[in-house]
Amino acid sequence: MLKSIILAAGKGTRMKSETPKVLHEIFNKTLLGYVIEAVNNTGLADENFVIVGHQAERVEEYIKNNYKNARTVLQSPQLGTGHAVSMVLPYLQDFDGEVVILCGDTPLVTPETIKEFVEEHKKKNSDLTVMSAIFENPTNYGRIVRKSNGSVDSIVEEKDATTEQKAIKEINAGIYCLNWAKVKGAFSDLKTNNAQGEYYLTDIIKWGNEKGLAVNAYVLKDNQEIFGINSKLNLSQAAKMLNKKIIEKHLTNGVTIIDPDTTWISPDTTIGSDTTIYPSTYIEGKNTIGKNCKIGPFAHLRGDVILEDYVKIGNFVEVKKAFIKSHTNACHLTYLGDCEIGSDVNIGAGTITANYNPLTKEKSKTIIEDNVKIGSNSVLVAPVTISEGANVGALSCITKPIQAWALAITRAPLKVVEGWVKKHLQ
Ligand code: UD1
Ligand code: MG
Repeated sequence: MLKSIILAAGKGTRMKSETPKVLHEIFNKTLLGYVIEAVNNTGLADENFVIVGHQAERVEEYIKNNYKNARTVLQSPQLGTGHAVSMVLPYLQDFDGEVVILCGDTPLVTPETIKEFVEEHKKKNSDLTVMSAIFENPTNYGRIVRKSNGSVDSIVEEKDATTEQKAIKEINAGIYCLNWAKVKGAFSDLKTNNAQGEYYLTDIIKWGNEKGLAVNAYVLKDNQEIFGINSKLNLSQAAKMLNKKIIEKHLTNGVTIIDPDTTWISPDTTIGSDTTIYPSTYIEGKNTIGKNCKIGPFAHLRGDVILEDYVKIGNFVEVKKAFIKSHTNACHLTYLGDCEIGSDVNIGAGTITANYNPLTKEKSKTIIEDNVKIGSNSVLVAPVTISEGANVGALSCITKPIQAWALAITRAPLKVVEGWVKKHLQ
């Protein structure tokens, strides 16, 4: 099995944030989470080592709570990328297999690319493979220096490069695959005699060549995948790139999306064919949307939402943790949270599932069975069940279970005072 090392100890000064860089989120998933999941989704890796340093406690806690096959290793102080990787040496002393090294701030890397990268490394019997990319503007990246026979000689950092080397457009993407048993010795030989006085991970390439190892480069096909996040601007750009890819996948799969520019769909959402997503819809978290549904305009799905086929979620409807069966409509101005709703239900405009009790700080469930009709502007105070076929009159506040096929209505009596306007206001 494969191991991964994910570098995440750096400071991320340009984020100008109290949150560590790798814990910034796109669609409620951290940058680090995207990288770990990309590795996990290759199906090749059994353990991920995350190198932490800056605000280590917060990243450690996040990893512990979210990823069972990941563990953190502290790097303090941070003396460079080579030093960062060397922190795992005590944990992998006897490991004999491949190690992939990645950065925690490149959330767009895909499992397909990592898999192909590792497979090519194995196919070529490579000991050390570096991922490269061709950039029209290679400034700030390490440059790949090739030998006259085309094989990789070394990587030179921008700050150490000659004018000639700076003109090289093939850059180091920062992702590596190592035959661990053969390359681990490099980490005790790294020196800091460079412009930044750091232990450069990139120096393992030269080391590999000196030891007569098979050193290769794999050229990345889609440069977007190594887009690194250094600022809030980059964060918004990465979110747009990710969203665009997701939207294109759904369009290819037969989902109608009226306006890709104003529609946001999280990577963990599946949508059945012939569903239509109307403009200005925001879908975050993990959701399953059936076929022939209509979502939006201006709808907000907040995660853990399952919609069967032919469900309508209309404008200004917010849905969270909800299971909604087929042919049910909630067309306007509604909040549906922590609920199970049957099929052929109509949820009137302005309906609220009041799921939160501020005294106990607990959330409770609303259950609405098949064929129920909820009148406009009703509040359903959870925990509550509205049984099959019941009707709730408009403007009702429902605080206890309603039996099947009953009418439930709470409403102040209507008072009409004839001639009142003429008497008082005219
Ligand atoms: C590095 C590469 C460069 C490559 C670029 C790709 C080196 C010496 N250079 O440069 O060739 O083109 O990545 O993005 O490796 N980190 C630690 N501990 C440290 C230092 C860094 O964990 O002591 C982490 C950072 O948090 C970051 C990653 O390593 O996630 C890369 O570090 P960074 O300083 O951004 O390296 P670059 O200068 O970009
Ligand atoms: Mg960098």
